[in-house]
Amino acid sequence: MPPTGLFISFEGIDGAGKSSHMDALAAAFRAQGRNVVCTREPGGTPLAEKLRAMLLHDSMDALTEALLVFAGRRDHLRTVIEPALVRGDVVLCDRFTDATFAYQGGGRGFDWQSLSLLERLAQTGLALQPDLMREPDLTLWFDLAPAVAAARLAGARSPDRFEALDQAFFERVAQGYARRAAEAPQRFAQLDAAQEREHVWLQLQAVLVQRGWLPAMGAAA
Ligand code: TYD
Repeated sequence: MPPTGLFISFEGIDGAGKSSHMDALAAAFRAQGRNVVCTREPGGTPLAEKLRAMLLHDSMDALTEALLVFAGRRDHLRTVIEPALVRGDVVLCDRFTDATFAYQGGGRGFDWQSLSLLERLAQTGLALQPDLMREPDLTLWFDLAPAVAAARLAGARSPDRFEALDQAFFERVAQGYARRAAEAPQRFAQLDAAQEREHVWLQLQAVLVQRGWLPAMGAAA
């Protein structure tokens, strides 16, 4: 029987600390002999990385933002994510569609139903199950109060278009994530990202063990 591919996304507001855990999880899967593809959105392909640069630096409205992220996502799914899942690899993706609902839907106030329509268009008709919408098997949601995230990010580097926005924006983004999590409770695992890094890792590991995807004594971060 061919190995089953796994698709795991990492989500949370800027400053929640998700990226640092992606490498540790990749190492834990590799220690189990799995092939791991680490990727990100916006981006993940040459075309989608060009769109990312526009999204992060050029001025545009929320619909344009949504169209750009879904265009990049379609290319990313077709050329990177779906082929990896066909091979049976583990795909770890730093942000995916929940970020669009959180940032463009929650943060910018763009219509949720229109985002659902774009989601269905962009994420259906792929190799493995053409009639089903491709979604992550698991979404690790690094939940952190916007005020704490802002304090962590302060002075870290020059901010992009999103990082430069005020705390009220990130409060709405956080509400967007909470709404998505409530709509798909089985897919989402909420992690308390206010804890120290090792404790966040232990929470993350427990989720993977509970799903039977990592053995109980997995690699430490
Ligand atoms: P991120 O990968 O977190 O960038 P970095 O860690 O290098 O700062 O994401 C870039 C920004 O893009 C982030 O602020 C969230 C935003 N974003 C959206 O607005 N919509 C989306 O669909 C995605 C995937 C990201």
